Amino acid sequence: MIHLFEKGSDPSAPTLVLFHGTGGNEHQMVPLAKEFSPGSSVLSLRGNVLENGMPRFFRRLAEGVFDEADLIFRTQEVKDFLDQAAVEHGFDRDNLVAVGYSNGANIIGSLLFHHEGVLKGAILHHPMVPRRGVAIPELKGLPVFIGAGTNDPICPRPETEELTGLLSDAGADVMLHWESFGHQLTNSEIDTAVQWFRKNFA
Ligand code: MLT
Repeated sequence: MIHLFEKGSDPSAPTLVLFHGTGGNEHQMVPLAKEFSPGSSVLSLRGNVLENGMPRFFRRLAEGVFDEADLIFRTQEVKDFLDQAAVEHGFDRDNLVAVGYSNGANIIGSLLFHHEGVLKGAILHHPMVPRRGVAIPELKGLPVFIGAGTNDPICPRPETEELTGLLSDAGADVMLHWESFGHQLTNSEIDTAVQWFRKNFA
């Protein structure tokens, strides 16, 4: 996968794995990673799917309607990429915290739904429920931050609550933070996520 890797100054800090929203690229989330953890290595991916020229991490059939077969295929592709990238770039495969926005948060959610032990933690900005009716692997104690909008037109409040419940029921330690700025990623949401990250990982 097209990606960017920057080695951090602190080898004990988690490597931050970044997933952009629809139409973003591997550069978009890097400034955010520096706010979370300036000493961390950063692995930032570009989605392998194009929608009208806009990179995404999996296909969708319509706004909010995912192409489930492609989601499953792309989730495995990302998982395999993380395994290979750890060898290629020499970071600790078992110490990854993923950060994603919108479509990027959705592929992280799908990683958690399909692969046990894939991440050490996850920061999901405006995620949706990636799939329904699947047995989610054990997520015992996994720290997960969800930033959501009470008035997000792409991810309605009940869907955020459903995702929170699914992850919590699988054992994740979920912090749900509400904003009221639709689907936007605001500075106050980022500030709250940064505080949460420092509490859990610093
Ligand atoms: C998605 O397709 O992943 C969600 O609708 C979020 C988006 O990218 O707009």
